[in-house]
Amino acid sequence: MNVQKPPMTLTIEGHERSVTAEPGRRLSEVLREDVGLKSVKVGCDAGDCGACTILVDGVQTCACLTPVAQVAGAKIETLESTQDPLVGQLQAAFLQYGAAQCGICTPGIMMAALELLREIPQPDQRAVEDALGGVLCRCTGYRKIITAVMKATDLPTAAPLPQAGSSVGQPLVRLDGVPKVSGSEVFGADYVPEDALLVRAVRAPYFHAAFTFGDVKAWQLDHPGIIDVFTAADIPGENRFGVIAPLADQPALAEARVRFRGEPIALVVGEPRPVEDLDLDSFPVEWTPLDHSLTQDAGVASDAQQLHPDRPNNARITGRVATGDAQAALAASAHVVSGQFETGYVEHAYIEPEAGVAWLEGDKLVIQACTQAPIMDQEETAKVLGLPLERVRIIPAAAGGGFGAKLDLSVQPLLGLCVLKTGRPCRMVFTRTESMQASTKRHPSTMTASIGADADGRITAMVFDGDFNTGAYASWGPTVASRVPVHASGPYLTPNYQATARAIHTNGPVSGAFRGFGVPQGAICQELLYDDLAAACGQDRLAFRQLNALRDGDKTPSGQMLPSVSIAECLDALVPA
Ligand code: FES
Ligand code: FES
Repeated sequence: MNVQKPPMTLTIEGHERSVTAEPGRRLSEVLREDVGLKSVKVGCDAGDCGACTILVDGVQTCACLTPVAQVAGAKIETLESTQDPLVGQLQAAFLQYGAAQCGICTPGIMMAALELLREIPQPDQRAVEDALGGVLCRCTGYRKIITAVMKATDLPTAAPLPQAGSSVGQPLVRLDGVPKVSGSEVFGADYVPEDALLVRAVRAPYFHAAFTFGDVKAWQLDHPGIIDVFTAADIPGENRFGVIAPLADQPALAEARVRFRGEPIALVVGEPRPVEDLDLDSFPVEWTPLDHSLTQDAGVASDAQQLHPDRPNNARITGRVATGDAQAALAASAHVVSGQFETGYVEHAYIEPEAGVAWLEGDKLVIQACTQAPIMDQEETAKVLGLPLERVRIIPAAAGGGFGAKLDLSVQPLLGLCVLKTGRPCRMVFTRTESMQASTKRHPSTMTASIGADADGRITAMVFDGDFNTGAYASWGPTVASRVPVHASGPYLTPNYQATARAIHTNGPVSGAFRGFGVPQGAICQELLYDDLAAACGQDRLAFRQLNALRDGDKTPSGQMLPSVSIAECLDALVPA
């Protein structure tokens, strides 16, 4: 059925704009795609994140939940379109207080703040918290944002520069601050070349399954607007990528078998609106579900399906660090505590889902996407596409949060394949659901440990063993498994030490980098046992840590001499609290 697209008038800061859109289309999409107001960000398309916050008749509104017909005749303000001088003051305050980090939430936060400042020019903290409550920030922890909004009307309109000769320790305005506070920063989804095609991925609905394709050509012909469909058979290079090149094991598009739910099996590329409207559930594929394991314990069980032929017991790698005789030292200790700990998946939940665009410049493939690792993207994309390195250029778009997960490839090889095959610019933007399915996570873990101390409360020994769920493919699992044993004793002197950690494959999401590479999980285990051990020694928990803290010149269990350690001063600073 053809939905009527009546012309409609939007009033954007005093200027009338005629757009042609179905009445039910999301206002966020119309403002971004049809009017070009890219400060309106889309993080969830579900009313949860607030990145799309704009003002409609002066009231903050989620543009992603607003049908465009609802605002015909209303006054719309976005960060780049508003003429209110208060915005200049907000921008200066955000720059001065460092309130924009990645900057993807900044336009939405500023619009919410603008509504507040019009009503209350000098709001208190509670009023700011209430006003900004609908816009999430994953980077800043909100303190600097709240301060910037509270101080916005106090400040001169330009942030002062530190004086020459006295700038050490002074805050500096970041070099990329102005684009972030003005809404002109270009994130992965923001640049769309003329004539760009849209790419969507067909993804596995099962944790583990074999699959065969049906009549893809017939399906394509049934859906006007699709230009082509690509599968693993179309990949011209080596269909394997990974962040540690010799261990690369993840196909860009799965070949006959998927190992996690959400793994891509095919790409549909075509004109934007028809591809956007496609129901991918109708894609012709026959699935044969296979047994799956989701936890590290199930992954190593004797009846678990082997996910990779060269990795017995689904163990990707074991890391080990040992010094002294930990077992003997534990046996001789005055006090010993033991425990088992489990931690679960953690999703990075950056506000910007994976997104990018790619095109050809002569015979060079140019990919502009959100990333934390453009050189790794270049190397792995070139390998998958069978291109020499110099034929792939990566332009890092601003990353709207990453926290480790955007170290892994996402859209890059998929976009590259579609551009090489069609010869036209192509763009791809993951939905929030796709982002959560396809991006890496913090490793779930199961850890057991014993720690001993002498009668004075000095650590004598630690024994640690951990299994870390690295999901279907390696990603950063080998790094986690080898780094955790290096750090599991924390910043404390531990003369006798034995630690092992394994990265275990399961059919869960791929686990990767997330601020610390497994060290935070190990810290949970060690710090909780330290509380128990302090109690067993009859000591205050903080004093116990001060006593055992590493000092300048001490060695870690892996033998590294640390010439400068400041953990003791940090602990001392906690005493008054
Ligand atoms: S609330 Fe609209 S994009 Fe998240
Ligand atoms: S600065 Fe707020 S999400 Fe990154």
